[in-house]
Amino acid sequence: MENSLKSKIAGFLQWYQDLYGGEWYIETPNPAAAEKRPGQTAALGNSTLQQFHRAIENCQNCPLGRTRTKFVFGTGHENAGIMFIGEAPGQDEDLQGIPFVGRAGQLLNKLLANVQLKREEVYIANILKCRPPNNRDPQPEEVEQCIPYLQRQIEMIQPKLLVALGRVAAQNLLNTTESLTNMRKRVWSYREIPLIVTYHPAFVLRYNDKFDSAMEDMRFILEHYQKLPEKEKPGR
Ligand code: URA
Repeated sequence: MENSLKSKIAGFLQWYQDLYGGEWYIETPNPAAAEKRPGQTAALGNSTLQQFHRAIENCQNCPLGRTRTKFVFGTGHENAGIMFIGEAPGQDEDLQGIPFVGRAGQLLNKLLANVQLKREEVYIANILKCRPPNNRDPQPEEVEQCIPYLQRQIEMIQPKLLVALGRVAAQNLLNTTESLTNMRKRVWSYREIPLIVTYHPAFVLRYNDKFDSAMEDMRFILEHYQKLPEKEKPGR
């Protein structure tokens, strides 16, 4: 084999291993298998969050389906007025199947509590439903496969306000490459729903001096939220 071809193959294998560890993902164009697995189009028609969760929890639409422990759908009030959106499950979330339950989640609870918001009254989800190996950034192909699930959740919950936690969530929702610094302290719009961007709690854990700014963001979020008209459905 030609050396340049060998090195291209070696490069591809290294890239794949960096992305997915030791697991191989091979898409099988078997129509029977495809019918059994929840196709996005069929699943996206479900009418309650719980039904939708059941319909998509065995998703194998990207390689992360093979490496995850648990599918992390989202948690909170199905009629929440605010929806917080993070990046992707980490190790604790992958083990428990619930978003933001690790150290970053504890900090998020604290930030919420400081503005008198309880986890149970908001809704929390991520851009990706499955953990990327070693917590690497989500890849564009993974986001492309997964984000329709989040979009459907947003449609079902109809929050008054969306909050993107961190750069990855914000950039993917707003389809931009703006820096987090430029995105904070402003009200954006995602499919006509106001969206505010703040730090990812894991970033605040790493850089403690950002805690006060994260709290300022939370107050900005709450102030804006309280000015929005009430939802027509019951709930906050
Ligand atoms: N980080 C995230 O972005 N989401 C989680 O659920 C946990 C950590």
